[in-house]
Amino acid sequence: MKMTTQTKILLIAALFVGIAAGNVAAADGKALYDSKCKKCHGEDGKGQTVMGKKVGCKDYTDAKVQEAVKDEDALKAIKEGFKNKEGKEVMKPTEGITEEEAKAILAHLRSFKK
Ligand code: HEC
Repeated sequence: MKMTTQTKILLIAALFVGIAAGNVAAADGKALYDSKCKKCHGEDGKGQTVMGKKVGCKDYTDAKVQEAVKDEDALKAIKEGFKNKEGKEVMKPTEGITEEEAKAILAHLRSFKK
């Protein structure tokens, strides 16, 4: 197949758009956190929202709170939800979340640590 210069430029442009779109799709932890976790855990991770106070969110800027939660437990909580000591489901499973997205959200949560 003979390609004109114009076709080549178009193909290259399409490739770049594809790469850019791929980057956006590569889980944006902050955006996901803001849409799925913020209402309870707060934009700053302190859990001082109306919901957060009601359900008892911890302060994720506190290094001790962060250290008490292992990555695997946090990922499990994000994917499967979390029950408090009384066995009450205080956090629901995050629907339709992929492993990659859960990890990106966790990275954002970890960034709150002071
Ligand atoms: C309905 C309110 C609510 C929502 C929404 C929510 N959580 Fe939670 N989450 C809680 C509560 C309450 C706890 C238990 C106390 C704490 O650790 O803050 C908890 C616990 C956790 C834990 C600790 C798990 C453990 O093993 O100790 C992590 C990590 C966590 N949440 C992350 C998230 C992330 C990330 C999202 C968004 C995908 C999210 N939460 C959404 C209320 C919520």
